[in-house]
Amino acid sequence: MATLRLEGIEKVFPGGQKAVTGVDLEVSTGELVVLLGPSGCGKSTLLRIVAGIETPSAGRVFVDGTDITDVPPQKRDVAMVFQSYALYPHMTVRENLGFGLRMRGTPAPELKARVNEVAESLGLAPLLDRKPFQLSGGQRQRVALGRAIARRAKVFLLDEPLSNLDAQLRVSTRAELSRLHRVLPAPMLYVTHDQEEAMTLGDRVVVMSAGRILQVAKPMEVYERPATRFVASFVGSPRMNFLPATMVGPVAGRLPGGGNAVLAAGSAVVAGENVVVGVRPEDLLLVAPGDGDLVARIDLVEALGRESLVHLVLDPAREDGPLSVLALAPGGFQAEAGERVGLCVRPGKAHYFDARSEERIG
Ligand SMILES: Nc1ncnc2c1ncn2[C@@H]1O[C@H](COP(=O)(O)OP(=O)(O)O)[C@@H](O)[C@H]1O
Ligand SMILES: [Mg+2]
Repeated sequence: MATLRLEGIEKVFPGGQKAVTGVDLEVSTGELVVLLGPSGCGKSTLLRIVAGIETPSAGRVFVDGTDITDVPPQKRDVAMVFQSYALYPHMTVRENLGFGLRMRGTPAPELKARVNEVAESLGLAPLLDRKPFQLSGGQRQRVALGRAIARRAKVFLLDEPLSNLDAQLRVSTRAELSRLHRVLPAPMLYVTHDQEEAMTLGDRVVVMSAGRILQVAKPMEVYERPATRFVASFVGSPRMNFLPATMVGPVAGRLPGGGNAVLAAGSAVVAGENVVVGVRPEDLLLVAPGDGDLVARIDLVEALGRESLVHLVLDPAREDGPLSVLALAPGGFQAEAGERVGLCVRPGKAHYFDARSEERIG
């Protein structure tokens, strides 16, 4: 049982590179929090600060209310799993699993029992005498995880643990991690740049960009109410469409084609203000020309089986070039390139962002 708390964490590297700025975060017992963001946004640096491998320029790290900021890594009760697995190549699976325990002077009978227990729970029992080179990528990752679990660390840190696995294995290992997390009574901080992993694994998702936290929320809330345009574009695939619009009243935005998209009531926007309307491809409905909020021409239809990706260009063309949007249509949808269609924004599904600050409105 433990809580991990980060207070005002900053990291400026000697060259002046700002990697992390003003990060406050709390992860409670049994909670899996995902740090999500593009490469270079400071996720690994933050994990390394919690592990003690990196020193913060400012801020404190607490476990169970105890300040561990100045505690050396080997004295922290924190286990970290890396993308590269970092297994000892000359040791067997058994030795790798027990390594952390041996370093801590765990008596042999207890060490053996814990290694066997973890090997059993992760399906590694038949592989205990193999060396890492005799394992598949997925098995290596399980050993790396098992090594962390065997230690019964208070806090678990995972840095892109699935990114070296092929697509199929990633899905099955992800599900395994989810199950594992349910029975591990420890805070877990999980780093990924993959929004699908974040959505499926996270109890909460922390979206980061350029060293800062943009939003902390449950996965579906991040999806349904992204705090900024960046979050909106980073979470969801295919990506959200963004349309420049002008407010024509307190609750409606005039879209490029002349139609209006209605903003949720209660938002404070002034008529005439420039905004960006975000609409997810699944919320952009294809209707007869003239029936929609927007007019568009079909550019390309990609049939994916269950659904089709419809690439469209809005009519009329804007001065600064054509505006492309993406809609999702049911599988089997057919249309000719150049065909005119209407587009409707699903009611209540338009997201509004301030054109300048890119923050969510409403
Ligand atoms: N040891 C270092 N010295 C200087 N800059 C670093 C160092 N480690 C990371 N950085 C920089 O800090 C930023 C954040 O890096 P990192 O935390 O690895 O990002 P992420 O894990 O999100 O991809 C990047 O711009 C990276 O180049
Ligand atoms: Mg990283």
